[in-house]
Amino acid sequence: MSLSIGTTSTGMGPGRMIRSFGEEVEGRPFDWRIILRLLTFLRPHWPRMVVAFLLMLLASGLSLVVPYLIKIAIDQHIAQGDAPALGRVALLMACAFLGLYAVTAGQQYLLSWVGQRLLATLRAQLFHHLQVLPLGYHDTHIVGVTLSRVISDVAVINELLSEGLVTLVGDLLILVGIIVTMLSMSPRLALLSFSVLPLMALATILFARRAQVAFRHTRAGIAAIVGDLAEDISGMRVIQAFAREDISHEHFDEVNRANREAHVMAMSLSFVFLPTVEFLGMLATAVVLWFGGRAVAQGELTLGVVVAFLAYVSRFFQPIRELSQLYTTMQAAMAGGERVLALLDSEPEVADAPDAFEMPPVVGRIELRDVSFSYRGETRVLHQVNLTVEPGQTVALVGPTGAGKTSIANLIARFYDVTAGGVLIDGIDVRQVGQRSLRRQMGLVPQDPFLFSGAIADNIRFGCPDALDSAVEEAARLANAHEFIAALPDGYGTEILEGGVNLSVGQRQLICIARAVLADPRILILDEATSSVDTVTEMLIQQALQRLLTGRTAIVIAHRLSTVRHADLICVVDGGRIVERGRHEELLARGGTYRELYERQFVDTAS
Ligand SMILES: Nc1ncnc2c1ncn2[C@@H]1O[C@H](COP(=O)(O)OP(=O)(O)OP(=O)(O)O)[C@@H](O)[C@H]1O
Ligand SMILES: [Mg+2]
Repeated sequence: MSLSIGTTSTGMGPGRMIRSFGEEVEGRPFDWRIILRLLTFLRPHWPRMVVAFLLMLLASGLSLVVPYLIKIAIDQHIAQGDAPALGRVALLMACAFLGLYAVTAGQQYLLSWVGQRLLATLRAQLFHHLQVLPLGYHDTHIVGVTLSRVISDVAVINELLSEGLVTLVGDLLILVGIIVTMLSMSPRLALLSFSVLPLMALATILFARRAQVAFRHTRAGIAAIVGDLAEDISGMRVIQAFAREDISHEHFDEVNRANREAHVMAMSLSFVFLPTVEFLGMLATAVVLWFGGRAVAQGELTLGVVVAFLAYVSRFFQPIRELSQLYTTMQAAMAGGERVLALLDSEPEVADAPDAFEMPPVVGRIELRDVSFSYRGETRVLHQVNLTVEPGQTVALVGPTGAGKTSIANLIARFYDVTAGGVLIDGIDVRQVGQRSLRRQMGLVPQDPFLFSGAIADNIRFGCPDALDSAVEEAARLANAHEFIAALPDGYGTEILEGGVNLSVGQRQLICIARAVLADPRILILDEATSSVDTVTEMLIQQALQRLLTGRTAIVIAHRLSTVRHADLICVVDGGRIVERGRHEELLARGGTYRELYERQFVDTAS
């Protein structure tokens, strides 16, 4: 029988874009290497785990002792009417129960203590790794899926490592303990009650094979839900603008339903399996009653042995039930663990060389030598770009959209590595130095100004957390941002909402410029700092830039040519090549692409 669950369909409604969350549903059922590597996360907590294990041993022992005490009570003390001895056994039993209670509580406490720390450590490691991964990773991975790694996959791993391991060993011990005790009390009756075990094994094998697939589907389903949710929430404005709520709603319902079905399938497997275990338990009880009862009647066994057997048999199936539940946890953790480890293992494509050294204080000479570049080995977006910027110079990159301007900036800041050629700063190839030591000396005002939620002042001091309020204000003044900030009711303390939605795009850019000013970098990269602002703001930004650029090496990418008029060198980028270079007047006089761009813009602004 093949098991099919509808989670793999991408579920396309009419006109729906295909969204694949890149979730693999296939995978190895069980992999020791994954388990062993996950176990290393427990290492720092081994003393507590050892204590938890010891407590578990104690708990297993205590729970095995009780039926044995019953046997003694019945066979010896009740049979002989020895009331004081019976009292002692009862007292012992009460102590055993109390002990069991205390030991279990202690063990639970230790396990959740370890578990919570494990969760935090794993999440911290993942977050750290995500920060090391280059932009190339974040380009190709959906935020929500990464989120589900960090939140939900990590949680199942924790479940397995803390709770699961101890349960596994404890249950196995109890099983072995029961088998040994039963065999020693009455080998014949023991073997008879174990006659249901082959059926049990069969049921387990059938269950295990299906459960494995089902649980992989549930992990993929959760990732799909979080992925869809995250994307739709950030795209809410567009969804509403195009009145596509219904379609988004439908699609989410579909993902949601697929996930629910996967879970129901996984759960219903358990629902079939657990009653089977229950039934086999009953069967074993019946076997004990029938054969044991007859043996008592024939004087071959004592009543106490049969009663103890009944207790053991009913105890016997509890660990089996728990183990089967553990198996499902294990499957989930396997699927989750595989992905979390894969993420942790993903090599940053842009990594520091083993012999990387700290970038010495930058003077500011930038050189691109025969640089060719493609994102992830796809089509080339830059072809043999050569460019030299002397310290203190301002170089403007202009050109049509998609020409490769931002890509050049990305290479200078080493967000990506060149495909061929080299980027040199002060004559040092950027691949030779530590990325952080390089970027610390660069300021970047990105094309889409990003602000963190929090106070305006904190956003400005993002690059230099220790900056004084006066320095923050000074930077804001230089960036011409002071006036509008001061006019806000809370001034510099104004809380910026997520994504900076409570500020205009122009205001966000001014804050980003202030952030770059405060960091006081030797090299400044401004990506279209003047797009999408009114002429007054543009003038403010212009003035700010003039102040900002003096004495620094700057790469300014701008669509508005008025911005770049004073640049030392203007490069016209088109189709991934620098097709023209020179100063404003020279380029105008040459009558090439630059003049064309300039005239078109002049006409645009005049009309
Ligand atoms: N992260 C990326 N992954 C893959 N391709 C990319 C990526 N970023 C840009 N590209 C491609 O590289 C080419 C150059 O893009 P780039 O962003 O450098 O253009 P640009 O000159 O900055 O354009 P604009 O003026 O619109 O900002 C484009 O064809 C684009 O499709
Ligand atoms: Mg760009």
